Amino acid sequence: MVFLASKQWNQAYLRDNFALSIGSIMKTKQTIAIIGASGNMGSSIAKSLAKGNYRLLLHSTQKDKAADVLYTISKEHPDAEAEIMDCSTQASWEADIIIMAIPYAAEKAVAEKIREVANQKIVISIANPLNGSFSGLVTAPGISAAEELQRWLPHSKVVKAFNTTYAADFASPVIDGQQLDCFIAGNDKEALETVEELVTIAGFNPIQAGDITVSRTLENLQALLISLTIRYNYNWHAGWKILHN
Ligand SMILES: NC(=O)c1ccc[n+]([C@@H]2O[C@H](COP(=O)([O-])OP(=O)(O)OC[C@H]3O[C@@H](n4cnc5c(N)ncnc54)[C@H](OP(=O)(O)O)[C@@H]3O)[C@@H](O)[C@H]2O)c1
Repeated sequence: MVFLASKQWNQAYLRDNFALSIGSIMKTKQTIAIIGASGNMGSSIAKSLAKGNYRLLLHSTQKDKAADVLYTISKEHPDAEAEIMDCSTQASWEADIIIMAIPYAAEKAVAEKIREVANQKIVISIANPLNGSFSGLVTAPGISAAEELQRWLPHSKVVKAFNTTYAADFASPVIDGQQLDCFIAGNDKEALETVEELVTIAGFNPIQAGDITVSRTLENLQALLISLTIRYNYNWHAGWKILHN
């Protein structure tokens, strides 16, 4: 009898506490570091993700510009948790997910700074490595900026995302009644699913496009959109939508 009572008590204890711990896992906020948070993309992504249940760490070398982004977030989303971080390494150390919202040319140097603290973390590559005239890419044939970033951060889970969406798209991700697609590419299944959630919160339709090598196509795809935007004057508010039945 004693054994039975104890077993019942243990079952109840396990059930209640297991439920509690599952509950707390589900409620745990993910921390996202945005490196380059005062730029066109960094600020747009930050304002967009402030809608979600995330803690945002805004890194910028220009504190006053980052303060403007933080001010807008606090006005538009009073419940959002966001703060300015002076140091990219500290921000990345505290983060679960790191978004590299910086020019391609700056990525290697930043990757070196955050390499140790970005181990096993998701790092999002949004870069389009365009040349100065926007007529092509500066990366060597057969490699993408995302794959280079993965080489520089060998123990991180690099995911390509948001490179095919313009900064202006974040304020209105629906154009002419169509929700824009946002392509995602990477090698880690769980990381892709996590990034898919971010893309959804930002208001885009996520499409998993394949492994990290697909970033070559995605970066070329955006080079094409940029050239079309210039040629046909899309006013930097355009995007991709796959129509299918
Ligand atoms: N603009 C778009 O519509 C768009 C769309 C898709 C992808 N992208 C990609 O997104 C990235 C950012 O583009 P953007 O248009 O947002 O550029 P941007 O407005 O010039 O902003 C870039 C930010 O990167 C930071 N930065 C520059 N050099 C740095 C360095 N050496 N170390 C650390 N931070 C540095 C700067 O932040 P500080 O304030 O700290 O100086 C700057 O605010 C690029 O890779 C671009 O290809 C852009």
